[in-house]
Amino acid sequence: MKNITLIKLGGSVITDKDTPYKAKISVIRRLAKEIKGSGITSLVIAHGSGSFGHTSAVKYGGKKGYKNKWGIAKVARDAMEINRIVMDTLIDEGLPAVSLRPMSMMMTSKGRIKKNLFEIIEEVLNQGLIPVVYGDVIWDKAWKSTIYSGETTLNEIGIYLSKKGYKVNKIIQVGQTDGVYDLQKETIPLINKKNWDKIKKYLFENKRADVTGGMQHKIENALKIAKIGINTFLINGNKAKELSNAILGKSVKGTIIRKN
Ligand code: IPE
Repeated sequence: MKNITLIKLGGSVITDKDTPYKAKISVIRRLAKEIKGSGITSLVIAHGSGSFGHTSAVKYGGKKGYKNKWGIAKVARDAMEINRIVMDTLIDEGLPAVSLRPMSMMMTSKGRIKKNLFEIIEEVLNQGLIPVVYGDVIWDKAWKSTIYSGETTLNEIGIYLSKKGYKVNKIIQVGQTDGVYDLQKETIPLINKKNWDKIKKYLFENKRADVTGGMQHKIENALKIAKIGINTFLINGNKAKELSNAILGKSVKGTIIRKN
């Protein structure tokens, strides 16, 4: 069985969320070095849009489509811009990464996937390359377009690869906190279907422009994928070595989301 690890580099880590269109190049570079240094090459990487796509996504419309075509064009352009920065860094650091544009790989209806070309992901993996996807605006049968987050795409890829016989080791979501905090700002080490309802009310409201729903959305998606045995780790990308340790299965200070 082919083992695979999925990594999402959150927009809050790779961009300055308070400054439109500002990438944190040195953080992206360190994370790329940690991925490379882990020696693990069987990977799919996703990244968020942060202050690139979210800025235009909020300005021109949102999750349920856009009033005019310029919204789609500009969000797609901004999503590609941060992708280009991430790709340059991954390749510079010696990772054979290939960008796959979600807009050209998926179609949804009311936000739910109806068609995909994930076969391409398998082909890229078979050729020893690392597929990279990202938060994007994609085509939707009901709303014309929708905003699709990097981790939702990654989760869908995880489900697809599991069905195709891959062993999806884990999904690592790299954010800017040590996982999910309780009211005392202590990390909640484990979230599962039993404790989630209680924990939900402890979560901080995400006040920034984030059309894909922030932390709650991440956890609920992770709980869905946990049902098929794929565990998600939420870790802090601002701390050196956390990503490489998580890839290698060493201990990290974060939250694990699993079935039980
Ligand atoms: C958002 O993607 C996509 C756009 C706004 C175009 P994500 O939801 O994956 O981005 P982050 O990680 O929250 O910034």
